[in-house]
Amino acid sequence: MLSNEIRQRYLKFFEKRGHTIIPSAPLVPENDPSSLFITAGMQPLVPYLLGQKHPAGVRLVDVQKCVRTGDIEDVGDNRHLTFFEMMGNWSLGDYFKKAAIAWSLEFLTSKEEGLGLDPKRLYVTVFRGEDGIPRDEESIAVWKENFSKFGINADVAEADEKIKDDVRIIPLGKADNFWIAGQTGPCGGDTEMFYDVVGKGKVEGNFQELVRSGRIIEIWNNVFMEFNKTADGKYEKLSKPNVDTGMGLERTSVVMQGKDNVFETDIFAPVISEIKKLAKNYNEKSARIIADHVRAATFIISDGVTPSNTEQGYVLRRLLRRAVRCVDQIGLVQENKTDQSDLVYISQMFVEQNMSAYPNLAAQSENIFKEIEMEEEKFRKTLVNGLKEFEKIITAYINNNISVKVLPGDVAFNLYTTFGFPIELILEIAKEKGLEVNLESFKSYMKKHQEISKAGSEQKFKGGLASTGEQETKYHTATHLLLGALRKVLNAEIVQKGSNITAERMRFDFNWPEKLTPEQLKKVEDLVNEKIAEKIPVEMFELPKEEAKKICTVLSFDLSKYGDIVKVYKVGNFDVEFCGGPHVKNTSELGHFKIVKEEASSAGVRRIKAILE
Ligand code: ALA
Repeated sequence: MLSNEIRQRYLKFFEKRGHTIIPSAPLVPENDPSSLFITAGMQPLVPYLLGQKHPAGVRLVDVQKCVRTGDIEDVGDNRHLTFFEMMGNWSLGDYFKKAAIAWSLEFLTSKEEGLGLDPKRLYVTVFRGEDGIPRDEESIAVWKENFSKFGINADVAEADEKIKDDVRIIPLGKADNFWIAGQTGPCGGDTEMFYDVVGKGKVEGNFQELVRSGRIIEIWNNVFMEFNKTADGKYEKLSKPNVDTGMGLERTSVVMQGKDNVFETDIFAPVISEIKKLAKNYNEKSARIIADHVRAATFIISDGVTPSNTEQGYVLRRLLRRAVRCVDQIGLVQENKTDQSDLVYISQMFVEQNMSAYPNLAAQSENIFKEIEMEEEKFRKTLVNGLKEFEKIITAYINNNISVKVLPGDVAFNLYTTFGFPIELILEIAKEKGLEVNLESFKSYMKKHQEISKAGSEQKFKGGLASTGEQETKYHTATHLLLGALRKVLNAEIVQKGSNITAERMRFDFNWPEKLTPEQLKKVEDLVNEKIAEKIPVEMFELPKEEAKKICTVLSFDLSKYGDIVKVYKVGNFDVEFCGGPHVKNTSELGHFKIVKEEASSAGVRRIKAILE
């Protein structure tokens, strides 16, 4: 079963059971500065998992684009991917364990509507209980009952976590079977489903060892969200429990196509075999890195990111540059197309393969190819400059009559950070010059560097996901007031070009060609404070998209990514906007609004930073 069919079957199966199909959210989280990319299907739904009403109802199903950047250095082995798709079905305070588990087993095993897997080859884990939360007896009972429909007796593993005889249900602790994204937010115990990929002979032994050996692999996770973990580490009971599930499309394709790894499935195989055909010095690892990185970069650019030295743009840059290096290593030669960028050629294959499921890939294709090509060119220039620098350093050594045979670690590290030279390249060039590199010293510099950037990214994640903290909520509403004021003071055509909110401040980008005068800034600030003083109620409406388009002041969002029913927030007659929220109930809650900075953000775009006091 090809990946497109798996996707379709999943959506249809749950649609038939009362779920609304919603589109994937973009890869870059909206109004959520705490993480660079969407890393799980539940992430864009956090406000709804915390109790907000979703316009599409209480049962949802989707296939969400995800990027996990922690693993970039591991790509190339059998497991790690940068970009992946997560299929998921959600109950927002509606059904719970009984229906979720029954449907999971039905989808996995049904030949007509699902995957047609053999129920005898399925094993499941459940939450063993910990920290005052009891063992999940309900899930155990529901699994037993559902397995029995196939005449399967499912026993529960002992504390040794051993699979033997009829054991199919393995209770595990918090480390394995309690799910939370980051540090705070909706969370709960989960039940995970594993498939025996061999299917011959007995599955027997310690559960974790069977997973490590690849005999059984995880294909689906159902999280039973009962708590919201707060910033001070407390687990608050949610008013209504939710179900959040995640089934990786790539893994499922491996199982369904009987392959060893994802690079052999229909998702990657055509690209890998094309690379193989064109390579002069083929090696599998480089081919996998090229395929993974170009696929991720293609999707990331389609969601509006461009290569840069910060945040999402930096991740994109790293992916593309590493891919360029791998392309050079294996010496790709395109037939009759030597002037075209190799990365673009590979990106084209991914666009074609995925555009039926993700139409914005086709719409954005020109832009995707242009960005990739420009970055490749830029990197090649950097390489040339770096090489010159390299020559200089070596000449300097020789001129100083130092008979260096070993390049010091800090020099190598400097080339790595300043010129983006990967270490393999440094080793390669050094070798050409008859030099070795002090790798040990290089590695210790590298380690320090990684620790610093890791600390940075952990810091970034610490805020949790899509925080709906009180202060952030106020800033959301203040953002609407600011936009309304800019339209009144400057021009009615002002639209949002970007927004970023933390508990401490708001940042807002908009289209305007020149610096605002002190008078204009004062007028904007005064107008916002006036609207706060007027104590205007903030109302929310759910409307069909077409209706909403008619009443919203100016469209600043790409509406194709929203469902058919959208939310509109109205602040009196001052501002009407599409928005996911959350917002305060009345503008009087905001306090005093103050602009602290106005500056250029990019060409034709200004940025205002403001605080509420
Ligand atoms: N949120 C769960 C996961 O990502 C389903 O695995």
